[in-house]
Amino acid sequence: MSALKILPNIYSVGVVDWQVRNFHGHTYTTQRGSSYNAYLIIDEKIALIDTAAGPFTQELIDNIKEIIPPEKIDYIIANHVETDHSGALPAIMRLCPKAKVLGTAKCQEGLYKHYYEKWDFQVVKTNDQLKLGQRTLNFIEAPMIHWPDSMFTYCPQDQLLMSNDAFGQHFATSERFDDQVDQCALMDEAKKYYANILWPLSAVILKKIQEIQELNLPIKIIAPSHGVIWRKDPAGIINAYLAWAKEETENKVIVVYETMWGSTEKMARKIVEGLIAAGTEVELYDVAQSDRTEIINQMLSAKGFIFGSSTHDNDMLPNIAAFLEIVKGLKPKGRQVGFFGSYGWAGGAVKEMQEMLKDSGLAQTIPAVSFKYVPDAAELDSCLEFGTKFGQSLK
Ligand SMILES: Cc1cc2nc3c(=O)[nH]c(=O)nc-3n(C[C@H](O)[C@H](O)[C@H](O)COP(=O)(O)O)c2cc1C
Repeated sequence: MSALKILPNIYSVGVVDWQVRNFHGHTYTTQRGSSYNAYLIIDEKIALIDTAAGPFTQELIDNIKEIIPPEKIDYIIANHVETDHSGALPAIMRLCPKAKVLGTAKCQEGLYKHYYEKWDFQVVKTNDQLKLGQRTLNFIEAPMIHWPDSMFTYCPQDQLLMSNDAFGQHFATSERFDDQVDQCALMDEAKKYYANILWPLSAVILKKIQEIQELNLPIKIIAPSHGVIWRKDPAGIINAYLAWAKEETENKVIVVYETMWGSTEKMARKIVEGLIAAGTEVELYDVAQSDRTEIINQMLSAKGFIFGSSTHDNDMLPNIAAFLEIVKGLKPKGRQVGFFGSYGWAGGAVKEMQEMLKDSGLAQTIPAVSFKYVPDAAELDSCLEFGTKFGQSLK
């Protein structure tokens, strides 16, 4: 991917990672790849906003070289410490030793704790400005969106917000702008990113968006650090973030289960029938065979979650345990939760699932259903009734 002019004297110099399929270890599947976006601003002073993941250092440098010799860079704005945006920084600093790095105090601390290099670093805060010549860069601290060091960089002359991870998508594309790509795929990836990474930070995000709206900053373009640039409808993605951050939901229930011999699945299917009978939209996932990142994506807009597992060694099964560990960390607000499962003798799965989510803020109003071994017709009727009641309770 070559450098691309996105505005007069502003270039996208980042790289596309077509191959990546797992992110943040193995906590996020990136079926559509990703990109590590960096922006180069040419003025009396030259600024590079963010870099790229370490393995893409040479590609980033080659892109910069298409525009200027890298040693001409005066400032490197580090909006975020994380290595997918800073991995190339040590090499870039070796190429342009006179460059100054700008970021938050937490960024300075975090970069040092990653690279153990003492660069010329200027700590910036919200309302601080950097004059480049014709253009100015304004900094907006954005702690916990999504790390303590995070910040946004805003260029008032172009009404350009470089928001780093906020408004990003793990979406590898040959095109650079929102209006050039499939809209469903784009919004799917933007939502998936929010659900899997930003969901637990919703309160912070809501406050930050409101703070930016109160600043009355005109925003014509949002250039995040992953995926495409929002130029067609930046307000659209801001409004989507507001809806997600406010935990707005639909009349939809996500049922996620794990089974060994199929009894819990039989229960799940009856629960789904009951939910449908109550007029609820449902999605059913066998967690052991499903993409967890995609389930979380669908859960973001659902009003209820129902989790099922058979008992295995007095506990829930391991795949649902790993999944609920993620759900617990997402701290979903204002949703109903239900539990079910088959057992053989003393049981334990339902109790352990309830225990795991007891402090998650999810409300359980319908008692769990659990049955011994293979559920009979009457027990399956109880599952149907459970689903119907659960669906009705959402209204
Ligand atoms: C390896 C193994 C361990 C089990 N451990 C327990 C247990 O600790 N307590 C219990 O009540 N049932 C236990 N069971 C029985 C299952 O929970 C029971 O067979 C159940 O009906 C399986 O439901 P499923 O078909 O949805 O997997 C165990 C079964 C297996 C295969």
